[in-house]
Amino acid sequence: MVETRLIDGKAFAEGMRARLKEDVAAFVRETGVTPGLAVVLVGEDPASAVYVRNKGKQTVEAGMASLEHKLPADTPQDEVLALVRALNADSSVHGILVQLPLPASIDAQAVLATIDPAKDVDGFHVVNAGRLAVGLDALVPCTPLGCVMLLKDVLGSLAGLEAVVVGRSNIVGKPLAQLLLREDATVTIAHSRTRDLPGVCRRADILIGAVGRPEMIRGDWIKPGATVIDVGINRVAGVDGKARLVGDVAFDEAQGIAGAITPVPGGVGPMTIACLLANTLTAAKRQVGAD
Ligand code: GUN
Repeated sequence: MVETRLIDGKAFAEGMRARLKEDVAAFVRETGVTPGLAVVLVGEDPASAVYVRNKGKQTVEAGMASLEHKLPADTPQDEVLALVRALNADSSVHGILVQLPLPASIDAQAVLATIDPAKDVDGFHVVNAGRLAVGLDALVPCTPLGCVMLLKDVLGSLAGLEAVVVGRSNIVGKPLAQLLLREDATVTIAHSRTRDLPGVCRRADILIGAVGRPEMIRGDWIKPGATVIDVGINRVAGVDGKARLVGDVAFDEAQGIAGAITPVPGGVGPMTIACLLANTLTAAKRQVGAD
């Protein structure tokens, strides 16, 4: 039985944001430009509203400008596209984030495709996804970037390690696999159709849950000593009837088996916003030619 180390993403993200605040201040001094992040929220998804509020607060705390555009759920797609085009053309806006999910009446891919790739701080535009895939400089999706930062902090080099990513989304699973490959890990993307998923997971030195299914990954799917990163944030009813957040990994069962694991909340979640702020500063630097 091993002692399982808790990976404190909250503390790591706080350190990142403190360093970033200094970098933003230096950038503003040198260029006279304040980096601006525009967030577009369509509709009233409660989880999205919480994310957007936190993003706005932390953007301002880092010394950057936060511009929020809240549109009703029945906004026609053309209006959303027109707003994105206006933000593309606005030189005070260096980063654009359209909060997902969008209402079903709006084609999310059409909206993402309209964002100027240079301002695409989420890294969801096909140009950035493609640049990441072929190893060019890209704006990289924030949650996968945060996962790899935590992994490198725990493990140092990831070279040659077996990494299994459970989940194949465009937002997390696929870009995370690319980033792990860039770190010379041996990468498997597993998903709901994978045969013998527990057996595949048991091979992993690095096991990542990114499926959005509460506690799907059980303790006995984890190789002893493995580093486990839990991207899931699932709201479930607790025994007392109150809602509580759980990850994609059965956290209690992982104790004494995993070498290290991220908690939910307080693991990957805080890293996402810290990486978003870092991407916004990177985008601003490139746009003013100060990179
Ligand atoms: N919804 C959940 N996570 C994210 C994210 O990282 N970016 C955007 N735009 N929407 C999200």
